[in-house]
Amino acid sequence: HQTVSQYLKNHIRTVPDWPAPGVQFRDITPLLQNPKVFRVLIDAFVHRYMDPALRPDVVAGLDARGFILGSVIAYELNVGFVPVRKKGKLPFTTVQETYELEYGSATVELHTDAVKPGDRVLLIDDLIATGGTMMAGKKLLEKLGAVVTEGAAIVDLPELGGSQKLIAAGLPLFTLLDFA
Ligand code: PRP
Ligand code: HPA
Repeated sequence: HQTVSQYLKNHIRTVPDWPAPGVQFRDITPLLQNPKVFRVLIDAFVHRYMDPALRPDVVAGLDARGFILGSVIAYELNVGFVPVRKKGKLPFTTVQETYELEYGSATVELHTDAVKPGDRVLLIDDLIATGGTMMAGKKLLEKLGAVVTEGAAIVDLPELGGSQKLIAAGLPLFTLLDFA
């Protein structure tokens, strides 16, 4: 009789001091490794986005762990999947967005024909920390005229303020669990 959130949370591994001293890294790979848990995880998203009011036209996944979740969810929803990639990986013409990291900056790209104006897009990643990655993905999709109807992730780290920032920017968010 535990909640889905608690069940999933019990299968996230916390790795201290990775990739840098003081960081408690929330590792989602155990969720994917166990077929029973993987199914509970994916079904939590699919159940929500099967609802005709929330069903997207396209699922966009953020490099790299958003690809693992997003492609399976898109397949189950019978909609297409598009990757938002780190700079330099996409071969066709792209739009680009650069955002600030703790040290330095990062650039993500999206193929210019990945979505059409008016497409309703679900944007997915494994985790929201500062929110910079998801915000950049939202901006790229909007540059092409798409509407990001919701951002979704397994984990929110609310203390880093990313989820609040995204909601304040007008992006509805759905996350399965938090680590305070
Ligand atoms: C992690 C995570 C998110 C992002 C969250 O990816 O998977 O994409 O950081 O952080 P933010 O909310 O502060 O932007 P990472 O950059 O480690 O890339 P990877 O998936 O390629 O390992
Ligand atoms: N886990 C996974 N990705 C991340 C984390 C984390 O704890 N923090 C920032 N990106």
